[in-house]
Amino acid sequence: MEKKKGYIGDFLSKKYYLYIFGILVLLGVDYLQIQIPIYLEQLIDGVKYLNEGMDEIVGVIKSILLLAVGMFVLRFFWRYFIIGTSRKFERYVRSNIFKKLLSLSPAFYDKTKTGDIMARTTNDLNATRMMLAQGVIMLTDSIILGSLSIYMMITRVDLRLTLIGIIPLPILAIVALSYGGTIHKRFESMQKAFSNLTDTVQETIDGMQVVKSYTMENERGNTFFEKCQDYFKKSMRLIKLWGTFLPLIELMSTLGMALTIWYGGRLVILGEISLGQFVAFSQYLMMLVWPIMAIGWVVNVIQRGRASYKRIMWIENQSSEVMDPNEPKKADLSKEIKVKDLSFTYPGSEKRVLHNINLHINPGQTVAFVGKTGSGKSTLAKLLVKMYSVKNNHIYIGDYDINQLRMKEIREQVAYVPQETFLFSATITENIGFSVDNYSQEDVEQYAHLAAVHSNIQDFPQGYKTIVGERGVSLSGGQKQRVAIARALMKKTPVVILDDCLSAVDTETELRILDSLNEEIKNRTTIIISHRLKAVSRADRIFVFDEGKIVESGTHHELLETNGHYSELYNKQLIEEEFKGGDNNG
Ligand SMILES: Nc1ncnc2c1ncn2[C@@H]1O[C@H](COP(=O)(O)OP(=O)(O)O)[C@@H](O)[C@H]1O
Ligand SMILES: [Mg+2]
Repeated sequence: MEKKKGYIGDFLSKKYYLYIFGILVLLGVDYLQIQIPIYLEQLIDGVKYLNEGMDEIVGVIKSILLLAVGMFVLRFFWRYFIIGTSRKFERYVRSNIFKKLLSLSPAFYDKTKTGDIMARTTNDLNATRMMLAQGVIMLTDSIILGSLSIYMMITRVDLRLTLIGIIPLPILAIVALSYGGTIHKRFESMQKAFSNLTDTVQETIDGMQVVKSYTMENERGNTFFEKCQDYFKKSMRLIKLWGTFLPLIELMSTLGMALTIWYGGRLVILGEISLGQFVAFSQYLMMLVWPIMAIGWVVNVIQRGRASYKRIMWIENQSSEVMDPNEPKKADLSKEIKVKDLSFTYPGSEKRVLHNINLHINPGQTVAFVGKTGSGKSTLAKLLVKMYSVKNNHIYIGDYDINQLRMKEIREQVAYVPQETFLFSATITENIGFSVDNYSQEDVEQYAHLAAVHSNIQDFPQGYKTIVGERGVSLSGGQKQRVAIARALMKKTPVVILDDCLSAVDTETELRILDSLNEEIKNRTTIIISHRLKAVSRADRIFVFDEGKIVESGTHHELLETNGHYSELYNKQLIEEEFKGGDNNG
């Protein structure tokens, strides 16, 4: 992988000229702005000494209007170049981060919360963008406008007056800097209170069923009220701060004005400067207030942006726990699968979850993993599709160690239906077909049929066009699982792994579905993981898991005869079945 400088470095090395344009335009705007007081000065002095005709006055007005139009045009361009470029940066980072997220392995998602990833990719990205947009603009603008104003005050008016007029400005700068940090902190805590508030609302609405059935309305109401109150208090704290900040700034600039009038007035009376110069000077002074005020803000935006940028780069610098080999061999999953003396501990965890696993699956065989919850069945299945990395010489696919093969190639040849199924917000047809490039409606229906979900789908008013997922119709757990099976089988891969993916249907339905799949999976290597032993009794070989070990293996009959774990579990389940009599039908 190429070495990254970081998103900002990479982006700027390609797009720096847009910023240069933007800054040049900004310089242009500031230059024009600085001209206005000069015209004003001419106008005032012209009127006062009556030595210019009305034509001259109209001429000055025209020039001022022209300057205004010029500033109007240029302001559009700096916004376009600088803010527009920051939006380009945002798009650039967003798409790269998303690619990165797609490339990271499950180990990353085990240790990182969704909320954290969302915060980094939204709030932090925005703070970084602000640094590159408003931050850059205000920084350059304050520097350019500030120094141009002072330069004009000194050269066009008077040095002594300038020194006196700007006395309050350092104090203003200190005020702006010290308020900047506090305003930001209070703003953050207000934002946090707001997101607490919305979380409470969302949780309550999501859990409305529970709230109602436990008559928790009052309690939830109180919680909500507390959060509301908290948000209100934090907003008020911010308002109070702004309430003192803005008047303080005004006070300082008025002080500057007072000093100017006092000393400048004297200079006018003494005839050392003209009235026009005096007016121009006051205008320059006013122009100075805003850059100084901006300092506090800019420092903040930059500090925040840098912290956020680090948090974004944290994602970029993650490396996938599972790596592809440099010189991959060709994966062929239609060959045998061998596991030799495999032990496994999840990354970042202490507990060993698989101990010395040995097994051998011949091409086309149907094998079953059974055992209690937490015994390591799913873990082994995930390792076979290279979701987590294992050491060399423990898992072989055909002639090669799994570490010699590319994960993409392995997964393309395996239809893996996980325990927790997930459907995207799309039509049922799209959900079933999405793993295949070209599919027809007939294919989709054929596989829905095989997975025994066709008739359910037809009962929906929109049939196969029904949108499922978060914003659509919610399917029952069993229906979702069957849609997921249809989706997996459509891939027509040499290996099929069904990881307890019929847990939400009753035993009879599970048996019926597995029966109807029989023809379809006859020639494929199939691993069925189920907690129901009845469902797997016809497997060619059954591996019994217990606390991360394979404690028994054999066919159903062999295992029953051994009178060990398997037969004990089997008899227990038979009795349970009798009691329940199959009352849920997914
Ligand atoms: N992502 C994970 N990180 C850490 N431990 C895990 C993870 N997934 C599962 N485990 C642990 O591994 C053990 C085996 O889990 P699993 O393979 O899911 O069992 P089964 O599929 O047999 O129910 C359990 O103790 C479980 O808590
Ligand atoms: Mg499992």
